[in-house]
Amino acid sequence: MRKAFILLGFSALLVGGAALTQAAETPPIWAYPVVPAPPGPAAKPDDTVKKSLPGSKVHFTDAGVNDRFNVPDWFANEHAPMPNVVAHGRKPDVFACGYCHLPNGQGRPENASLAGQPAAYIIEQVMEMKEGRRKTSQPTMGSIKAMDAIAKAVSPEEVKIAAAYFSKLKYKKWIRVVEADKVPKIEISSHNMLVKAKGGGTEKLGMRIAEMPENLDRVELRDPSLGFVAYAPKGAIAKGKKLVDSGNGAFPCASCHGADLRGTGDVPGLAGRSPSGIVRQLYDIQHGTRTGAAVDLMKPEVAAMTDENRVYIAAYLASLKP
Ligand code: HEC
Ligand code: HEC
Repeated sequence: MRKAFILLGFSALLVGGAALTQAAETPPIWAYPVVPAPPGPAAKPDDTVKKSLPGSKVHFTDAGVNDRFNVPDWFANEHAPMPNVVAHGRKPDVFACGYCHLPNGQGRPENASLAGQPAAYIIEQVMEMKEGRRKTSQPTMGSIKAMDAIAKAVSPEEVKIAAAYFSKLKYKKWIRVVEADKVPKIEISSHNMLVKAKGGGTEKLGMRIAEMPENLDRVELRDPSLGFVAYAPKGAIAKGKKLVDSGNGAFPCASCHGADLRGTGDVPGLAGRSPSGIVRQLYDIQHGTRTGAAVDLMKPEVAAMTDENRVYIAAYLASLKP
């Protein structure tokens, strides 16, 4: 009790000082990573050198890996055949869903996992984006800007087909949550992703989650089989469990998201999902950029949510078995 009081007083002091100079609260850069665009056009990816991945018999060049209308499918035998909108999209504005969300729907920290989410939920979210009710607190983040443009251009029929495909995939655990004080020195890649700094070194984590590729080279090749490590503050998982069990001052999260937090009915699953993505959604819902009828159910949950609590909750949820 006394400790909480002191902590509260301390952060109020900091916020008070900062509030004078910075009126608008800005979303946390580690959850919404943006780098200034490099000057000039990006270098064209190589289209001659064939790359490979462990366990896959097919090969793609860098140009092939980066083809937004022909998704590199390294492990075609591990998922049902992709419908056209997932594998190829529709030129010029509908990039293939599988390009960002991956053919197996596992998604990446800068987008979202769709595997195993209810079809009705997937359809509803794209429609909310199309109609402008779901926006983001960081409109300069390239990956989200791209999703927004796709939602505007995609047809309801295409969304239905994509939703049926992704909802039938099984979401598998591929995020490892590690509690740490110090983490590899962080850089933001041009793909809106936190990565290990090229120069090496370490830095203090503080009150953040740093979700980084287990292997950057393989992530750059869009390997859908090797995931991410999410560094979280010491003690975050246990604190997050308490908040999730109690409902952060409102209803326990499991009362709507299912006993095991894997989703139920049309309510999305949270277990094992990207902690950066969870933080963005909780932040967007709290700040009124993500709206819609179903979001009203979430409003009491985020009403009193602090930045710290968001970090703890996301670390715990990401650590669960999906
Ligand atoms: C250019 C990359 C990209 C492509 C291609 C893409 N998306 Fe997304 N998608 C995103 C990003 C980024 C987000 C997450 C935005 C955020 O965190 O607010 C997202 C979020 C979503 C969500 C919300 C998931 C959730 O749990 O909240 C759905 C549903 C979705 N996309 C469906 C689709 C469908 C269907 C297609 C193909 C028609 C598609 N996406 C193509 C980048 C992409
Ligand atoms: C009263 C029901 C209810 C409770 C309790 C609830 N949620 Fe939700 N939550 C929802 C619904 C419904 C949605 C989907 C909203 C939509 O369709 O736009 C949602 C969406 C979310 C999302 C976005 C997921 C995504 O893939 O984009 C997150 C994250 C989330 N909830 C976390 C929580 C946490 C953490 C708690 C507990 C502190 C919680 N929820 C408690 C109903 C609830």
